[in-house]
Amino acid sequence: MDQQYFLCWRVVPLLLLMPCGLQCMSVHILAEQPVHVIPGSSLLLKARIEPGPLEKVSTITWEREPETGKAPVRVTLATCPGGSQNCVGRRPSVHVNVDQQEATLQINGYSRADSGVYAVTVTDHTGANTTAHCIVREYEAVHHVSVSINVSHSLLICGEAWGTDPHFSWLHERVAITKAVGRVSKDGATLFVSMTPICGHFTCLVSNKLGHSSATYSAAPCETEGRGTMAAVVCLSLLLLFGGVVTFLLLRRHRQSKRGERLHEHLDDTI
Ligand SMILES: *[C@@H]1O[C@H](CO)[C@@H](O)[C@H](O)[C@H]1NC(C)=O
Repeated sequence: MDQQYFLCWRVVPLLLLMPCGLQCMSVHILAEQPVHVIPGSSLLLKARIEPGPLEKVSTITWEREPETGKAPVRVTLATCPGGSQNCVGRRPSVHVNVDQQEATLQINGYSRADSGVYAVTVTDHTGANTTAHCIVREYEAVHHVSVSINVSHSLLICGEAWGTDPHFSWLHERVAITKAVGRVSKDGATLFVSMTPICGHFTCLVSNKLGHSSATYSAAPCETEGRGTMAAVVCLSLLLLFGGVVTFLLLRRHRQSKRGERLHEHLDDTI
């Protein structure tokens, strides 16, 4: 009894798989996911269809549903019934095409509302469906760049909120980072500072296809050699000035006391 039960469970899935063994149709979307589209530009999705030797493609359908939400509503964008020549988009901005084993969907004037999970479904002559999915999102500009410092490890960390594909670069006092200043991590977001003490302005610049944004961390001003000399000169001048004033005051006092003595002598004479 147990043996039979066991066999049954081994055999049934095999039987279910059998019809699909060699001649199963496959479809997949040729894109690195998620696909990001700049608003106003065109979305182009390509799907590769490989029918089995005994199968014929009967209908291709493109649909979209929101990526999130409790009750996602599926929208049909286009269908290609009865072969490749009869493709119709449901909107003027939607264009579809089928070329040998490739189906394409193009949406012009992409907007945020066009984001979602796209599905291409291929139906064969027996009515069996095969579907491939692709996530499509809006390409977002760089947002909220910030620089924070990790004092114990001499790290500067650049943060960015939700921009698509951000690229990081660093400047120290408005020039590219040199070895004397530090080293940038592989992803670019961290700067390992080697200069001690950490001084001056560190700027993180984040950019993508839509523009760039930056943030600056300001440490104490750097004591450059030029400034040191300047400070010495100012100090020396102040010292000389002070010395001069003191000498002048002493001399004046000396002269005053002499004049006082002379007056005294003069008075003595007249008496
Ligand atoms: C500083 O960086 C080190 C190494 O990445 C980490 O372990 C530590 O928690 C960081 N400290 C702070 C205050 O973030």
